[in-house]
Amino acid sequence: MEVFVTGACGYIASHTIVELVEAGHNIVGVDNFSNCSKDVAQRLRKACGRFIKIYDCDLRDEYSLSNIFQYERFDSVMHFAGLKSIRESYKYPLEYYDNNIKGTLNLLKMVEKFGVENFIFSSSASVYGFDSTPPFKESYHVNLPVHPYGKTKYMIEQMIFDLKFTTSIILRYFNPVGASSSGLIGENPKGVPNNLMPIIVSVAAGRLDKLTIFGNDYDTPDGTCIRDYIHVVDLANGHLRALDFAFRNQKSEVFNLGTGKGTSVLELVKTFEKVNNLKINYEFGERRDGDLPVCVSCCKKANDKLKWNAKLGLEDMCKSAWDWELNMKNFRV
Ligand code: UD1
Repeated sequence: MEVFVTGACGYIASHTIVELVEAGHNIVGVDNFSNCSKDVAQRLRKACGRFIKIYDCDLRDEYSLSNIFQYERFDSVMHFAGLKSIRESYKYPLEYYDNNIKGTLNLLKMVEKFGVENFIFSSSASVYGFDSTPPFKESYHVNLPVHPYGKTKYMIEQMIFDLKFTTSIILRYFNPVGASSSGLIGENPKGVPNNLMPIIVSVAAGRLDKLTIFGNDYDTPDGTCIRDYIHVVDLANGHLRALDFAFRNQKSEVFNLGTGKGTSVLELVKTFEKVNNLKINYEFGERRDGDLPVCVSCCKKANDKLKWNAKLGLEDMCKSAWDWELNMKNFRV
């Protein structure tokens, strides 16, 4: 297949490209490099063992995007590009709507105009709301999330449900962490990290002096929030299965990609300390606005229909996240 990947140099897309190339697909990528440096493209090519064409283009630039589609031919579009910080989305909501919604709209116009058969979208567990009981199933009614970031995911999902010109697969990610064993790609957000694992890693590396755990008075066994952490390589593999599914069944579907296992913030910290033989300086702080106490997937649908399940455990996630940090030192300028 010829697959067009947006946000190609980002954390999840780059891992997915490696899996797609390994399975024999041809990739063309696009990135505006707003959240990663340009040298990721070189490392990604090295990880793939071959040249991958990656256009430097913002999806909101309809003219340039249209030029790419005129020049290339795609069987499928995998859409990862998007701003993804909840905190930042409260501060700059219009930037989030503009980037995520407008970018997707332009992309979908190209999918329609150039007759691309399939569209795969990176959605998020944030579409499940406070009124649902975990584990979250795809059949649950989704609610308008509280934060602008989650709202953009919700709105894009609604847009995709209305499309008749392509088959679409919506993948709702839970909490992706870890890195590939190549040591060439991994999570490396620009600026101060927002998500738990990059913060833990930054504390371990001495770039941050401590982790503040947001709340220890939740109704969970140790009082801290529970999430469904999934190794990014398993997540990447889920995209490969989704692509196969779409072309075999010619059907649009929504799938959760998680492990179905819940881990508390404290458990993640303790596992990270144990497998990497390190100490993480942490303190308990106030609850964070908009945090669900428990966010865990039911992955039965993906297990059954995609013949996919997550294989790597929490220890692999913690170990590979730290290994990546150690490797990354070689790439810092
Ligand atoms: C959220 C979204 C997820 C999205 C991701 C992108 C929900 C339910 N989930 O994940 O879909 O892809 O953001 O950013 O909206 N924590 C701390 N201290 C910190 C940072 C985090 O204790 O400094 C805790 C949080 O309270 C949470 C857990 O760690 O319980 C994970 O947080 P985070 O990594 O930010 O991801 P989510 O908010 O779960």
